[in-house]
Amino acid sequence: MPAKVDMDKIVSLCKRRGLIFPSSEIYGGLASCWDYGPMGVELKRNVRDAWWKSIVHERDDVVGLDTSIMMHPGVWAASGHIDSFTDPLVECKSCHLRWRADAIEGQGCPKCGGELTEPRMFNLMFKTSMGPVEEEASTIYLRPETAQGIFVNFDNVITTSRKKLPLGIAQIGKSFRNEITTGNFIFRTREFEHMELEYFVKPGTDEEWLDYWVKERFDWYVKLGVRKENLRLRQHGKDELAHYARDCYDIEYLFPMGWSELEGIANRGDFDLIQHAKYSGRELSYYDAEAGEKYVPYVIEPSAGVDRSVLAFLIDAYDEEEIEGEKRTVLHLHRSLAPVKVAVLPLSRNEKLTPLAKEIFNKLCPSFVTDYDDSQSIGRRYRRQDEIGTPFCVTIDFESLEDKQVTIRERDSLAQIRVPVGELGKILEAKLKGESFDVSPLWATREK
Ligand code: GAP
Repeated sequence: MPAKVDMDKIVSLCKRRGLIFPSSEIYGGLASCWDYGPMGVELKRNVRDAWWKSIVHERDDVVGLDTSIMMHPGVWAASGHIDSFTDPLVECKSCHLRWRADAIEGQGCPKCGGELTEPRMFNLMFKTSMGPVEEEASTIYLRPETAQGIFVNFDNVITTSRKKLPLGIAQIGKSFRNEITTGNFIFRTREFEHMELEYFVKPGTDEEWLDYWVKERFDWYVKLGVRKENLRLRQHGKDELAHYARDCYDIEYLFPMGWSELEGIANRGDFDLIQHAKYSGRELSYYDAEAGEKYVPYVIEPSAGVDRSVLAFLIDAYDEEEIEGEKRTVLHLHRSLAPVKVAVLPLSRNEKLTPLAKEIFNKLCPSFVTDYDDSQSIGRRYRRQDEIGTPFCVTIDFESLEDKQVTIRERDSLAQIRVPVGELGKILEAKLKGESFDVSPLWATREK
């Protein structure tokens, strides 16, 4: 089934509505780097928060962590990234473009058909040097995954949190990979954000926990509005497993360029703790008081990309509809992800309407991300809010001055209800929690 929107439309909406801009645009941009604008920063934060809430706050078997991006170089020797975090690279002898050898079909350069060099292994970690003297000893790497910050803190967390296994440690943060081929907007970039959970379990229970986490993570996307038919699971073949993995499932999403990885859930076994114990000389094991035994835990790792999730949520929410002969572009984003929850829109800039509209804005904004907009026609303002996925618009008209009532307009059903100003906060709060939410035909379709 083809995806319903092409990437150009998403890129253009993101630019037009302040979601995502090309990085360093006034200098011509920087390949594969993107900046999140005023709306994008809210959306991205909401994605992070939704993940943190479901992984850390709503569970008592997971704790959080925030480790440094630059780590001791020994970490990457132990983790295998210095030796194995490589892609085969070929270069075109005519146009000198570089390609991932395993991602091209046929013999010649995909751009000009020119002859390609033999593949050579290219390490994807960004190197930099720490300290003022550029010598071998000060070479360090920008982390290519947040996971290693968790493994090297395993002992610190176990001894200070007084928690028992199974125990998860979660982290969200930037990772860097010098990818050979980037593209498809924010799908694959050289700087991106990871949301990773390392879930430590007793060996022998790992397969069960892998199944558990695959289901949990799949359901997370569905709960946040991604249609099931656009998601699927794929188990890695033995020949494609990463050097640390015993088993791995990808949650794939039907992106405009086809089915592609959205998140990976791997069984890393005891690889990382054993390696770090060996390289650091520190014992990394767990004493199970109930069983009276000591062991090196196995690790189940759901690893997702913030940016790639943002992209999937945007694509899945995007719709073009015809309303009374007029086209409207709308993002049917889940209310918890929408950058703006409520827009306060006085019917016009008339000075009589402004005080009540401002009063309503000031009342709502401490509770919800609220936008105030009084420019252009009300129709155009609704369209603007639809394009960024604002679930509710509150309109103040001349009658409002008389009857102290305002109109709530729902993004999906387009239903308009008149409510007393005094009740507005309570009603919006309930609606934003999903309580007595008027399920529109559109949402009914999505939930099938
Ligand atoms: N620690 C395991 C790990 O990093 P991965 O499959 O390489 O596994 C996990 O990455 C997720 O991180 C991917 O499913 C994707 O969502 C995101 N990701 C990886 N590389 C990325 C890139 N270059 N740009 C954007 N997102 C990326």
